[in-house]
Amino acid sequence: AAAEKQGFRHYMLKEIHEQPRAIRDTMLGAGVGADDVRFDGLSLDVSACARIVMLACGTSFHAALIGRSLIEGLARIPVEVDIASEFRYRDPIVRTSDLALAISQSGETADTIAALKEAKQRGAQTLAICNVLGASLSRVADQVLYTHAGPEISVASTKAFTTQLTMMVLLAIHLGRRTGHLTAERAKALVDGLQDLPAHIDNLLAASAAIRIIARRHQGARDCLFLGRGLCYPVALEGALKLKEISYIHAEGHASGEMKHGPIALVDGSMPVVVLAQRGPGYGKVLSNLEEVRARGGKIIAVATLGDHTIGDLADDLILVPDVAGELQPILASIPLQLLAYHFADLKGTDVDQPRNLAKSVTVE
Ligand code: G6P
Repeated sequence: AAAEKQGFRHYMLKEIHEQPRAIRDTMLGAGVGADDVRFDGLSLDVSACARIVMLACGTSFHAALIGRSLIEGLARIPVEVDIASEFRYRDPIVRTSDLALAISQSGETADTIAALKEAKQRGAQTLAICNVLGASLSRVADQVLYTHAGPEISVASTKAFTTQLTMMVLLAIHLGRRTGHLTAERAKALVDGLQDLPAHIDNLLAASAAIRIIARRHQGARDCLFLGRGLCYPVALEGALKLKEISYIHAEGHASGEMKHGPIALVDGSMPVVVLAQRGPGYGKVLSNLEEVRARGGKIIAVATLGDHTIGDLADDLILVPDVAGELQPILASIPLQLLAYHFADLKGTDVDQPRNLAKSVTVE
């Protein structure tokens, strides 16, 4: 097993480091041109659907939430997202003009398979995004798009998530070009941006030791909040999920704007608050959220944009990510949160790759 981890202490850490390669392979598999994404194997005209209904569980559900904003933003196709186990039991409205899109790393999650079957029975066309070739889900879906993360052994999902996010950007470009809402120029900028991601991720991975120091400083924390807005709100949800899965620290992710409606009651001097504060439309609002946390003694770990000279004064700990297009920010912002969860867990000495009570894929309901 030591050889399979290629010198890394855990599969999770190895898989975190595989992300530059995994993202590159996912782009290769999709058929990325200069200003378009072809998806050569896809015979379904996905852009003809009136609505997309995304179905997923766990980390894949967070990828779907980001996918919704990307597809609505770039292609202007209405998208709904549902937790697979909820969708199946709520007598959902599905039309024959709908496309049901299931997202699943394993393609074996019982609830996701059942939800896609339900949508199919109600007349929707079906598409699956999977990481495992020939998975059960691929036999239910009309068509499958594969992420090329490679085998993910660690129960906590890392490279599968960022390749799902890559796939969401690729799909949004594909759809946007076909609905006519995405110009060739803008598509080219996004494709170029995607191509630069592996190098950016390599740089972020080099900050692992610095992130371990941050984790050590907050080692005694029993609770942790994650805040984000826009495309980074689901990144906050995923950051919290990752931390609780492997470190057993109670963590909650919230939309920054919701903080004043409840979570702020929890903030005190023993509470680390991880804030996704990249530059973009909501930046000013995030700064005022930071001030509110600070006023209550909360300890702020900010994930901000490289070159941001304002935020340093407000944050206790600062993690900087390169300045990229808003659509690509979730991918980069996820990397330090994975490392943060990993180091919290490793310092605590938990079984990082096999956390208690969790399974890699949940094949029972
Ligand atoms: C389990 C795993 C999670 C995963 C979820 C959905 O709970 O521990 O990491 O996100 O299943 O899995 P899927 O294979 O459908 O993406």
